[in-house]
Amino acid sequence: MRTIRDIKLFENIPILVRGALNAPVENGKVINEYRLRRALPTIQYLSSRGAKVILISHIGEMGTETLLPIANRLAELIPNVSFFPETIGERVRAAIRELSPGNVLVLENLRRNKGEQRNDPTFAHELAALADIFVQDSFDTCHRAHTSIIGVPKLLPSYAGLLLEDEVRELSLALTPVHPALAVIGGAKFSTKEGVLSTLLKRYDQVFVGGALANDFLKASGQEVGKSLVSNASEPVIKDLLNNPKLVLPVDSLVVPADSLLAPHQAQAEVRRHSAGVNAASRIAPFGQVRPDEVILDHGPGTEVLLSNLASRAKSILWNGPLGNYENGFVGATDAFARAVAASGAHSVVGGGDTVASIEGLGLLSKFSFVSTGGGAMLDFLAKGTLPGIEALG
Ligand code: 3PG
Repeated sequence: MRTIRDIKLFENIPILVRGALNAPVENGKVINEYRLRRALPTIQYLSSRGAKVILISHIGEMGTETLLPIANRLAELIPNVSFFPETIGERVRAAIRELSPGNVLVLENLRRNKGEQRNDPTFAHELAALADIFVQDSFDTCHRAHTSIIGVPKLLPSYAGLLLEDEVRELSLALTPVHPALAVIGGAKFSTKEGVLSTLLKRYDQVFVGGALANDFLKASGQEVGKSLVSNASEPVIKDLLNNPKLVLPVDSLVVPADSLLAPHQAQAEVRRHSAGVNAASRIAPFGQVRPDEVILDHGPGTEVLLSNLASRAKSILWNGPLGNYENGFVGATDAFARAVAASGAHSVVGGGDTVASIEGLGLLSKFSFVSTGGGAMLDFLAKGTLPGIEALG
């Protein structure tokens, strides 16, 4: 993979950098700037050599959000950053012509243009017309067939940024872990995890399936999961994985009666009041004892102990995805596992938005060996060893 270290000329050259600036914003302020801090080395490498750095990124899923708060925060972290409220066109090109060497111009959210998610050739040409060189540094989106991921690199000399280089190196190493090796995959939606589970079952000694993903496995093994979230995963595929002796499932669950479940916004208010998503009606259900009218929202204390024991024996730990319904405040098992990994002394590689939020919230970021900026991209990279956005760099 060619990286920005292979670029020879920088001074006054417009360089288009696809960054990973999709950070959470609330009331116009960035509330978690992990991705921004990881974006800085590439920006500084290019700007300190006199390039005109043109930063593009998406923010939010739908294209309704603006990158202005991100640009404002970047401007507090490094000098000479400004924002332009458009993404393509003559006014943008004029702003780039005016840009001084070494300065950074953040353009508006790529997804405001419908062409971005469709890999539209016209949009690709418009973006390519802004610069002489393209740098891919958005590892988190390299699994998407979008214009700024696979379209633009076909039109400009293209290089990987320092963040992308780091991600590829660390996650490639995670595919050949030092043993004993423990992998933990949480979250939901079996279809997005099937590939990575198959790969990890070949390369790791134990693979724990947690979060809502575990519900699919519990259900396929004949257990009652009540009204819990399940995906419409293929049962034969899950049963096949269940036969693998390396697969580990939770041994207990935190459940609530479905009719006591708070709407998400109420649950979040409740969490702020009590700093835990446990409501009065919750109980711990041992394996196989969930009632038909209950919902599984987190793992129980037995599973926390099981995971902590596995972590303390492991030399390598790979983790992606929350273990409970994290966004609605059921953070117990996720936070407990974050503490166990931090205390384990194992080489630890972690990724996924909620997982990283848990680690940051607990102040444990520095205890992890590598924290990926990717969620789905990390899983796809581990499953396939590459991603469309990496292949597109040629
Ligand atoms: C992420 O947050 O996982 C990446 O930025 C990709 O975002 P997306 O799922 O909206 O494509």
